[in-house]
Amino acid sequence: MSSPKTEKVTMDKIVSLAKRRGFVFPGSEIYGGLANTWDYGPYGVELKNNVKKAWWKRFVQEREDMVGLDASILMNPKTWEASGHVQSFSDPLMDCKNCKERVRGDKIIEEHYGVEAAAGKNLKEIGEFIKEKKIPCPKCGKSDFTEARSFNLMFRTHQGVVEESSAMVYLRPETAQGIFVNFKNVLATTRHKLPFGVAQIGKAFRNEITPGNFTFRTREFEQMEIEYFIKPNTEKELFEMWEKECFAFYTDLGINKEKLRMRHHEAKELSHYSKMTVDIEYEFPFGWGELQGTAHRGTYDLTRHSEFSGEELVYFDSETNEKYIPEVIEPSFGADRTVLTFMIDAYDEDEIGGEQRVVMRFHPQLAPIKAAILPLVKNKAIITDKAEKIYNDLKKHLMVEYDESGTIGKRYRRQDEIGTPYCITIDFDTVEKDDAVTVRDRDTTKQERIKTSELLNYLRTKLES
Ligand code: GAP
Repeated sequence: MSSPKTEKVTMDKIVSLAKRRGFVFPGSEIYGGLANTWDYGPYGVELKNNVKKAWWKRFVQEREDMVGLDASILMNPKTWEASGHVQSFSDPLMDCKNCKERVRGDKIIEEHYGVEAAAGKNLKEIGEFIKEKKIPCPKCGKSDFTEARSFNLMFRTHQGVVEESSAMVYLRPETAQGIFVNFKNVLATTRHKLPFGVAQIGKAFRNEITPGNFTFRTREFEQMEIEYFIKPNTEKELFEMWEKECFAFYTDLGINKEKLRMRHHEAKELSHYSKMTVDIEYEFPFGWGELQGTAHRGTYDLTRHSEFSGEELVYFDSETNEKYIPEVIEPSFGADRTVLTFMIDAYDEDEIGGEQRVVMRFHPQLAPIKAAILPLVKNKAIITDKAEKIYNDLKKHLMVEYDESGTIGKRYRRQDEIGTPYCITIDFDTVEKDDAVTVRDRDTTKQERIKTSELLNYLRTKLES
């Protein structure tokens, strides 16, 4: 991507631009909203779809060792007993006795004494540590909390018509389990040899105690997950391959490398299923935060599902004539966090001809609108007819927008703010002289004259480069 970034991005600016330009709206706003829910607006949904498309292309379409899946959100509740979520997927909840603020005990320790101080502590130890260090309530500043108690993060609902007699089901807290329960089906229908992976994009739900930071932590979010099945004891090279691939996903789409880092989890921080986890973190305006994680889940999930379901979830290795449970490497991405990261990283402010502008320097593959078609004037049919024709031709191939209101300068600014890589102006020369248009580049603001007959190819080449 283009010119040097300013360090002017703040969460307030991102939230405000997101609302003002139709990327992200507060959820159910006309009813006063619902805390920590967000709706993607017209440009936001394009951006998010493009992120998911880029992810699917890279990790499914372009790889011979990967296939896709789209499993149900509601699953047999035994799934969550087998996965360990009923037993272990909980956070230490505490209430401030003074102001009634609800806090996550481990998080407030983390905020004051770092990740390592919080990791591995049981409920009693968390409570004692907070008391001993007099860690203050983030809202009122007093240090007087209730005991820490375990709060399971899974949302429950009922399947069936009459609530009392219906079956209790969970909204899935991760998409991963949909892949494990389909391991046998995928193996039987694709006949893949190890190593191979299954990818899935879908919603997950967690009743987070402290959601916040815009779309960074919400109770309903989307994940993009891969379960990569491998021969036991081959994890070293394959884990490294996935670490690199995941990192490259972000940098190839323009994320500033200096804002990314890898963080290995300490043994005591690991989730109940993981033998090793490495996170990719991004430096958000509110500090470093997890963007993606790759975990070595070993044989944990397939073993547990075999035990709980009675189905044999094994792989027959025709080379060695052995039957065994494959191990799993799991690269897991949050789609909403990824979108938020692309928005923050793309945000820039600069000056053009003495005028300040806000420009979202999205990678062309991710930009919600690829090109804007701008007739120089709106009151000359000769110009607007030609512009409409160009728009109608291009829209069959690319997400484009037609805009005839306001000065050209104003229209450029509007497109810069939503990150449109190219603006196409149709002027009198187009219709009277050369049948060419002016194409302006968002980042350099340089302009080129391109024949209308070559326009689609020109844009395609630019957008793919
Ligand atoms: N299957 C493994 C798993 O779910 P995780 O680290 O709990 O691992 C994976 O979640 C990714 O999902 C995270 O790296 C993050 O990007 C995203 N994520 C997790 N909780 C989230 C939340 N409450 N809001 C938004 N994204 C979340």
